[in-house]
Amino acid sequence: MKQTKHFLNLSDLPPDELKAILANAHALKKQKFNPPQIFDGLSLAMVFDKRSTRTRVSFEVAMKQLGGHTIVMSMDEIQLGGSESIESTGNVLSRYVDGIMVRMSDPAPLAELAKHSTIPVINGMTDASHPCQIMASLLTIEEKLGSIEGKKLAWFGDSNNVSNTYAEAAPLFGFEFTLSTPPDLKPPPDHPLFKDSRYVKYIKDPKEAAKDADVLITDTWVSMGQEGKDIEKFWPYQVNAELTACAKDTAIFTHCLPMHEWEEVSEEIARSPASVIYDEAENRLHAQKAILAWCLQDAGVHVQQGQLDLGRGA
Ligand code: CP
Ligand code: NVA
Repeated sequence: MKQTKHFLNLSDLPPDELKAILANAHALKKQKFNPPQIFDGLSLAMVFDKRSTRTRVSFEVAMKQLGGHTIVMSMDEIQLGGSESIESTGNVLSRYVDGIMVRMSDPAPLAELAKHSTIPVINGMTDASHPCQIMASLLTIEEKLGSIEGKKLAWFGDSNNVSNTYAEAAPLFGFEFTLSTPPDLKPPPDHPLFKDSRYVKYIKDPKEAAKDADVLITDTWVSMGQEGKDIEKFWPYQVNAELTACAKDTAIFTHCLPMHEWEEVSEEIARSPASVIYDEAENRLHAQKAILAWCLQDAGVHVQQGQLDLGRGA
């Protein structure tokens, strides 16, 4: 039986398919002023249990620019989780729309929804992962520095959904990912994301972690849902001029946003020429198009890897 093309975790996909999505994101960006109408007549439902600017707007614009439609609901507006089961919701939405994008704190009900949907379910961020973000980040790094393979990425501050997904992506795309966090956040030695030290490692000392890095990355110290958290222990991990001086001269800085200047990153680094934060934000749009095109293949969407003649099949 044909497998529905859910986009829940990067590691659910073979590396070649992930690389093809990335190649298509590059191709679709080149066509941004002449977007192929490959989603003509298709609809995407989006459900959010948390705030969003980039994920919501980029998915909506991606669908619409390529000819499709969107329906956006907050978790308060949909019956899901209230008077209707996940199973029923998955079955019903599968009869109306062609894909579902969900931002949901808990990854378990998201996986359950995918199980009961005959259309693709896309992970728009959980407390455990943020795969769409990482596709946009890799697109940005490749634009600035060339192929992601062999690049050294260093992460500073909290260990969270975004850092987890960089660690997951590292062996799949062949880059090195160093996590530098306060020691109490060091992943346990048997953590599955840290099983291959060729790709993923932990270094407590932020300056050592920044050494020879191609890309410096951080994220908020207080993710959504963690309001009131004590941030004192994170100060040594701020990305600032002192830390950046340890990286390669050509190193770039990125952040998924939203950002808190003078907490996880100094204003001078966030606004420096090395900062690619808004390129990455724009690239959410181009990456979403490629992710949607991959997911919607069963709806007749065909794209050739890295080519510009993207088209809608029969
Ligand atoms: N980076 C990101 O996912 O941003 P939003 O929370 O605004 O969607
Ligand atoms: N780690 C952040 C990412 C926001 C896009 C959060 O979960 O709030």
